[in-house]
Amino acid sequence: MSFVIVLAIVGLVLAAAAVLFTVQRTRDTQRAVGYLARETKSRDRSASRSRGEEAEAPSTGREVELATVAARRGGTDLATAPPSAPVAWEPPDEDAMGVTRRQFMNRGIIAGFGLGIGGFAPAALAFLWPQGTSGFGSKISVGSVAELKSQVQQGNGFLYYPEGRMWITEYPASSLDNARGAYSESELAGMEAGLVALYQKCPHLGCRVPNCPTSQWFECGCHGSQYNRVGEKKAGPAPRGLDRFAMAVEGGTFTVDTGLIIQGPAIGTNTTGQEAEGPHCISGGAAH
Ligand code: FES
Repeated sequence: MSFVIVLAIVGLVLAAAAVLFTVQRTRDTQRAVGYLARETKSRDRSASRSRGEEAEAPSTGREVELATVAARRGGTDLATAPPSAPVAWEPPDEDAMGVTRRQFMNRGIIAGFGLGIGGFAPAALAFLWPQGTSGFGSKISVGSVAELKSQVQQGNGFLYYPEGRMWITEYPASSLDNARGAYSESELAGMEAGLVALYQKCPHLGCRVPNCPTSQWFECGCHGSQYNRVGEKKAGPAPRGLDRFAMAVEGGTFTVDTGLIIQGPAIGTNTTGQEAEGPHCISGGAAH
């Protein structure tokens, strides 16, 4: 609908420009002819009558010119031109006539107006044209499940995906029975394919939670909350596990809806039973 409105606006603007151009063009091609107003002629005649010049005074500019020429030549007799054959009219050569200042100014105004419309219309169309959505807040097609698992393994168990502000980790197939009792369908859709997409924001006070390569957990540096590799809370003041996104797998492609944030699992949820696999990166904070 908005596209139709934009097209209508652009059409109206172009029509207005065409009308303006036509009017200016008509004015350019007209000869500049001056006329005396009727009141002026009447006033001149009254002035002449009051001076008693009714009979002698010429009443038009043409008569004034003829009277002046006659006076200069010393008489009113005009030389008779020898007869000549009529010559066919030829239109004047536009190049030879050149461009008057008025024409130059008018064309400059019209050209500027046209350039303005030419720049505005595409910009308006580009602004209002329906855009494909991508990035955080939209559904993101992250990639093929197999490729993502490979990248997670190359990242020592973790893959950070900045466009979606999320961590992607593997969910062990052996824990799926536990997961089915703890997670919703939109979460399980990804977990059953072996992946989980976790929101990077700590549910305590919002810090970005980094992974800890040694413990293989997520460990928040702000107040010490700790979560296992699938985002289930292990320690610290956080009120729940890491939030996550609705996931889907279609044709082997892992899609994450970053516009649909699902609250992390309740404290005590531990579907994978993963304990720290090495030293912690931070000491765990006290639970509130
Ligand atoms: S913000 Fe992460 S523990 Fe406080």
